[in-house]
Amino acid sequence: MPDVRVRFVDLQAQDAAVGDAVRAAVDEVLQSHAFVLGPAVAAFEQALARYLDVPHVVGVGSGTDALYLAMVAAGIGAGDAVLTSPFSFVASASAIARTGARPYFVDIEAESFNLDPTATARWLREDCRRVGGLVHAPGGEIVRGLLPVHLFGRPCAIEVFRELASEHGLVLIEDAAQAIGARVAGAGRSAGTFGRFGCFSFYPTKNLGAAGDGGCVVCLDEADAAALRMRARHGVDGDPYRHVVAGVASRLDAVQAAVLGAKLPHVDPWNAARRAVAERYDTLLAADPTLAATVRRPALTPGHVFHHYVVRVRERDRVRSGLAAEGIETQVYYPIPLHAQPCFATLDHRPQDFPEADRASRECLALPMRPELADEQVAAVVSALGRVVGAS
Ligand SMILES: Cc1ncc(COP(=O)(O)O)c(C=O)c1O
Repeated sequence: MPDVRVRFVDLQAQDAAVGDAVRAAVDEVLQSHAFVLGPAVAAFEQALARYLDVPHVVGVGSGTDALYLAMVAAGIGAGDAVLTSPFSFVASASAIARTGARPYFVDIEAESFNLDPTATARWLREDCRRVGGLVHAPGGEIVRGLLPVHLFGRPCAIEVFRELASEHGLVLIEDAAQAIGARVAGAGRSAGTFGRFGCFSFYPTKNLGAAGDGGCVVCLDEADAAALRMRARHGVDGDPYRHVVAGVASRLDAVQAAVLGAKLPHVDPWNAARRAVAERYDTLLAADPTLAATVRRPALTPGHVFHHYVVRVRERDRVRSGLAAEGIETQVYYPIPLHAQPCFATLDHRPQDFPEADRASRECLALPMRPELADEQVAAVVSALGRVVGAS
């Protein structure tokens, strides 16, 4: 294997920029011995609430737990159905299954990779039945939730989803795991702040990453925030050893909260730098006639924070191996759409049920993306891509 010239993940440069502040904040927690909840977690929750301009942020153990806890706090469980995207990280759908509800899918938009709002409206109006004000899914479950994903950092059609949720009496839960700081054009607000619940992940490579697992749920309603906190803290309500429901232990670690608090002021400049990298890719890919004709570039839509820069290309696996041979690391998000995942085999989908999700999983290729990616590195990726694509 050749030397790696451009890594896909490289957190060194971020550490050089914020490492001292992060280590000082962690040291403070270590000296305080307040490892579970306590002031570091409260301070981060408040800082994030100010940043997102929302009343309540509840820190939890991961983005996956954020989705699960939002749904159980909304009362979603066995006998219910929740609609989501078939083209996402598995947690978007596995969190639904974990509540006891059944995940349903409709297809994505080819252009954005996000849940298609027209297909969603059609599914709710034509495939479901209304009985006594409730929406019944084709399998008989009651549709309680709508869970769109802001995939790769690009805001989905969240305002349309909000209208659909309100029209059909559904709980809107946003999977904003990849989209912290993504502003929704025209609305002047961030992804994750439109639904009854907005769920974020602080997985280390996310645009705001911890030094381990972490996540949070944003709620607009105080009672929702309290229900969620209670579920995430063993179902304790008031008296510390009185448990009103069988909850879970899912708390944002104090050490992680300290790391995140030190990084939070950098999120906007980092997102702007990611966008500048995306613009550089776009310019170089468009300037080469062969690449312009064969590599489909993501649109530079307003608000997109480019957690990933994902192009589409035919013969994706050959292109990926060719890039690896040139020392360029890439990733495939996601090689298997959710309806085809073995863990959802009981949902009985056929491979072609969601053709756009299927096509995306065959063609998508994530190129290296991070705020610190230098111009020469972007140029090296694009020229290697030119050689590999041109060699077919
Ligand atoms: C779209 C999406 N949803 C949910 C999650 C789950 O987050 P976590 O890894 O923090 O559990 C992730 C993170 O990987 C994600 O990308």
